[in-house]
Amino acid sequence: MIRRFTLILALAFPAAPVLADDDYMPPVTHPATAEECSACHMAYPAGFLPARSWQAIMGNLENHFGEDARLDEATRAEIEAYLVSNAAPRVRGVAETATPLRISELPWFKREHEREVSARMMERAKSMSNCVACHKGAERGYFEDD
Ligand code: HEC
Ligand code: HEC
Repeated sequence: MIRRFTLILALAFPAAPVLADDDYMPPVTHPATAEECSACHMAYPAGFLPARSWQAIMGNLENHFGEDARLDEATRAEIEAYLVSNAAPRVRGVAETATPLRISELPWFKREHEREVSARMMERAKSMSNCVACHKGAERGYFEDD
Protein backbone atom coordinates (compact mmCIF):
# COMPACT_ATOMS: atom_id res chain seq x y z
CA MET A 1 0.00 0.00 0.00
CA ILE A 2 2.73 2.40 0.97
CA ARG A 3 4.81 1.23 -1.98
CA ARG A 4 1.93 1.81 -4.29
CA PHE A 5 1.39 5.30 -2.95
CA THR A 6 5.08 6.06 -3.45
CA LEU A 7 4.89 4.80 -7.00
CA ILE A 8 1.91 7.02 -7.73
CA LEU A 9 3.75 10.01 -6.28
CA ALA A 10 6.82 9.18 -8.35
CA LEU A 11 4.69 9.09 -11.50
CA ALA A 12 2.83 12.25 -10.65
CA PHE A 13 6.02 14.18 -9.87
CA PRO A 14 8.72 12.61 -12.00
CA ALA A 15 11.17 15.41 -11.34
CA ALA A 16 10.38 15.82 -7.65
CA PRO A 17 13.18 17.96 -6.25
CA VAL A 18 15.62 16.62 -3.68
CA LEU A 19 14.82 19.44 -1.33
CA ALA A 20 11.33 19.92 0.04
CA ASP A 21 11.25 23.58 -0.88
CA ASP A 22 12.89 23.37 -4.29
CA ASP A 23 16.46 24.60 -4.06
CA TYR A 24 16.31 25.64 -0.41
CA MET A 25 17.73 23.87 2.65
CA PRO A 26 17.61 25.90 5.88
CA PRO A 27 21.15 27.09 6.66
CA VAL A 28 22.85 26.73 10.05
CA THR A 29 21.47 29.28 12.47
CA HIS A 30 23.05 27.98 15.66
CA PRO A 31 25.92 30.36 16.61
CA ALA A 32 28.44 27.77 17.86
CA THR A 33 27.86 25.52 14.83
CA ALA A 34 28.07 28.43 12.40
CA GLU A 35 31.31 29.54 14.01
CA GLU A 36 33.13 26.25 14.65
CA CYS A 37 31.99 24.31 11.60
CA SER A 38 32.84 26.96 9.02
CA ALA A 39 36.57 27.26 9.71
CA CYS A 40 37.58 24.85 6.92
CA HIS A 41 34.43 24.63 4.75
CA MET A 42 30.94 26.11 4.86
CA ALA A 43 28.82 25.06 7.84
CA TYR A 44 26.78 22.30 6.17
CA PRO A 45 23.03 22.45 6.81
CA ALA A 46 21.91 19.88 9.39
CA GLY A 47 19.01 18.79 7.19
CA PHE A 48 21.24 17.08 4.64
CA LEU A 49 22.20 14.17 6.92
CA PRO A 50 20.33 11.93 9.36
CA ALA A 51 20.88 12.24 13.11
CA ARG A 52 23.07 9.12 13.29
CA SER A 53 25.46 10.67 10.77
CA TRP A 54 25.87 13.82 12.83
CA GLN A 55 26.42 11.70 15.93
CA ALA A 56 29.13 9.73 14.15
CA ILE A 57 30.80 12.90 12.85
CA MET A 58 30.61 14.69 16.19
CA GLY A 59 31.86 11.60 18.01
CA ASN A 60 35.05 11.44 15.97
CA LEU A 61 36.24 15.02 15.51
CA GLU A 62 39.85 14.08 16.27
CA ASN A 63 39.85 12.12 13.03
CA HIS A 64 37.71 14.36 10.85
CA PHE A 65 38.38 13.57 7.19
CA GLY A 66 42.08 13.68 7.87
CA GLU A 67 41.90 16.79 10.06
CA ASP A 68 41.86 17.30 13.79
CA ALA A 69 38.67 19.29 14.43
CA ARG A 70 38.43 18.70 18.18
CA LEU A 71 36.40 21.05 20.35
CA ASP A 72 35.97 21.40 24.09
CA GLU A 73 33.33 18.98 25.33
CA ALA A 74 30.65 21.58 26.15
CA THR A 75 30.83 23.09 22.65
CA ARG A 76 31.00 19.68 20.99
CA ALA A 77 27.89 18.48 22.84
CA GLU A 78 26.00 21.69 22.09
CA ILE A 79 26.76 21.46 18.37
CA GLU A 80 25.86 17.78 18.24
CA ALA A 81 22.52 18.50 19.92
CA TYR A 82 21.75 21.24 17.39
CA LEU A 83 22.68 19.10 14.37
CA VAL A 84 20.77 16.08 15.65
CA SER A 85 17.61 18.01 16.34
CA ASN A 86 17.67 19.58 12.88
CA ALA A 87 18.75 16.44 11.02
CA ALA A 88 16.92 14.83 8.09
CA PRO A 89 14.28 12.34 9.30
CA ARG A 90 15.09 10.23 6.23
CA VAL A 91 17.42 10.60 3.30
CA ARG A 92 16.26 9.33 -0.04
CA GLY A 93 18.10 6.18 -1.07
CA VAL A 94 19.83 5.74 2.31
CA ALA A 95 18.92 2.69 4.42
CA GLU A 96 18.10 3.19 8.09
CA THR A 97 21.12 1.04 8.90
CA ALA A 98 23.58 3.10 6.88
CA THR A 99 25.48 6.02 8.39
CA PRO A 100 26.80 8.21 5.59
CA LEU A 101 29.48 10.69 6.65
CA ARG A 102 29.39 12.78 3.52
CA ILE A 103 26.56 14.71 1.88
CA SER A 104 28.59 14.54 -1.32
CA GLU A 105 28.32 10.75 -1.38
CA LEU A 106 24.57 10.45 -0.87
CA PRO A 107 22.79 8.72 -3.77
CA TRP A 108 20.70 11.78 -4.70
CA PHE A 109 23.80 13.95 -4.56
CA LYS A 110 25.76 11.75 -6.92
CA ARG A 111 22.84 11.50 -9.31
CA GLU A 112 22.23 15.24 -9.24
CA HIS A 113 25.89 16.12 -9.81
CA GLU A 114 27.08 13.35 -12.13
CA ARG A 115 25.84 14.77 -15.37
CA GLU A 116 25.48 18.44 -14.51
CA VAL A 117 28.96 19.30 -13.30
CA SER A 118 31.39 20.34 -16.00
CA ALA A 119 35.14 19.71 -15.86
CA ARG A 120 35.67 23.46 -15.61
CA MET A 121 33.39 23.78 -12.57
CA MET A 122 35.11 20.84 -10.93
CA GLU A 123 38.53 22.30 -11.53
CA ARG A 124 37.48 25.50 -9.82
CA ALA A 125 35.80 23.78 -6.87
CA LYS A 126 38.57 21.17 -6.35
CA SER A 127 36.25 19.04 -4.21
CA MET A 128 32.54 18.21 -4.26
CA SER A 129 32.53 19.17 -0.57
CA ASN A 130 33.14 22.76 -1.64
CA CYS A 131 29.47 23.60 -2.21
CA VAL A 132 30.05 27.36 -2.21
CA ALA A 133 32.30 27.20 -5.26
CA CYS A 134 29.31 26.27 -7.44
CA HIS A 135 26.32 27.34 -5.37
CA LYS A 136 26.88 31.00 -4.54
CA GLY A 137 23.85 31.08 -2.26
CA ALA A 138 24.81 27.92 -0.35
CA GLU A 139 25.55 29.70 2.91
CA ARG A 140 22.08 31.23 2.76
CA GLY A 141 20.58 27.82 2.03
CA TYR A 142 20.15 28.13 -1.76
CA PHE A 143 21.48 25.38 -3.98
CA GLU A 144 20.29 26.53 -7.38
CA ASP A 145 22.65 26.42 -10.31
CA ASP A 146 24.60 29.67 -10.62
C1 HEC B 1 40.12 21.77 10.77
C2 HEC B 1 39.25 21.86 9.60
C3 HEC B 1 37.80 21.41 9.77
C4 HEC B 1 36.88 21.81 10.71
C5 HEC B 1 37.07 22.79 11.85
C6 HEC B 1 35.64 21.12 10.38
N1 HEC B 1 35.81 20.36 9.26
FE1 HEC B 1 34.38 19.22 8.37
N2 HEC B 1 35.72 18.69 6.93
C7 HEC B 1 37.05 19.04 6.89
C8 HEC B 1 37.67 18.44 5.74
C9 HEC B 1 39.13 18.59 5.33
C10 HEC B 1 36.66 17.73 5.06
C11 HEC B 1 36.80 16.94 3.76
C12 HEC B 1 36.68 17.94 2.62
C13 HEC B 1 36.93 17.34 1.25
O1 HEC B 1 36.85 16.13 1.07
O2 HEC B 1 37.16 18.14 0.32
C14 HEC B 1 35.44 17.90 5.85
C15 HEC B 1 34.23 17.36 5.50
C16 HEC B 1 33.07 17.46 6.26
C17 HEC B 1 31.81 16.85 5.91
C18 HEC B 1 31.53 16.05 4.65
C19 HEC B 1 31.37 16.98 3.45
C20 HEC B 1 30.90 16.25 2.22
O3 HEC B 1 31.73 15.91 1.37
O4 HEC B 1 29.69 16.02 2.10
C21 HEC B 1 30.93 17.15 6.90
C22 HEC B 1 29.48 16.73 6.98
C23 HEC B 1 31.64 17.96 7.88
N3 HEC B 1 32.94 18.14 7.44
C24 HEC B 1 31.09 18.45 9.03
C25 HEC B 1 31.76 19.28 9.93
C26 HEC B 1 31.18 19.76 11.16
C27 HEC B 1 29.80 19.43 11.68
C28 HEC B 1 32.12 20.57 11.75
C29 HEC B 1 32.02 21.31 13.05
C30 HEC B 1 31.92 20.51 14.24
C31 HEC B 1 33.30 20.55 10.88
N4 HEC B 1 33.03 19.76 9.81
C32 HEC B 1 34.49 21.24 11.12
C33 HEC B 1 37.69 19.87 7.78
C34 HEC B 1 37.11 20.49 8.87
C1 HEC C 1 31.55 21.57 -8.95
C2 HEC C 1 30.29 22.25 -8.75
C3 HEC C 1 29.37 21.81 -7.64
C4 HEC C 1 29.72 21.53 -6.33
C5 HEC C 1 31.08 21.53 -5.69
C6 HEC C 1 28.46 21.23 -5.64
N1 HEC C 1 27.41 21.35 -6.51
FE1 HEC C 1 25.47 20.99 -6.08
N2 HEC C 1 24.99 21.20 -8.03
C7 HEC C 1 25.85 21.58 -9.03
C8 HEC C 1 25.13 21.56 -10.31
C9 HEC C 1 25.71 21.97 -11.65
C10 HEC C 1 23.81 21.11 -10.02
C11 HEC C 1 22.69 20.87 -11.01
C12 HEC C 1 21.99 22.11 -11.39
C13 HEC C 1 20.93 22.41 -10.42
O1 HEC C 1 19.97 21.64 -10.34
O2 HEC C 1 21.03 23.42 -9.73
C14 HEC C 1 23.75 20.92 -8.58
C15 HEC C 1 22.62 20.53 -7.90
C16 HEC C 1 22.50 20.48 -6.52
C17 HEC C 1 21.28 20.26 -5.80
C18 HEC C 1 19.92 20.04 -6.41
C19 HEC C 1 19.21 21.34 -6.58
C20 HEC C 1 17.81 21.14 -7.09
O3 HEC C 1 17.49 21.83 -8.04
O4 HEC C 1 17.11 20.30 -6.55
C21 HEC C 1 21.56 20.31 -4.47
C22 HEC C 1 20.61 20.18 -3.31
C23 HEC C 1 23.00 20.55 -4.36
N3 HEC C 1 23.54 20.65 -5.62
C24 HEC C 1 23.66 20.64 -3.18
C25 HEC C 1 25.05 20.69 -3.08
C26 HEC C 1 25.79 20.60 -1.82
C27 HEC C 1 25.15 20.43 -0.46
C28 HEC C 1 27.11 20.66 -2.14
C29 HEC C 1 28.28 20.56 -1.22
C30 HEC C 1 28.33 19.42 -0.30
C31 HEC C 1 27.18 20.81 -3.60
N4 HEC C 1 25.93 20.82 -4.12
C32 HEC C 1 28.37 20.92 -4.31
C33 HEC C 1 27.17 21.91 -8.88
C34 HEC C 1 27.92 21.70 -7.73
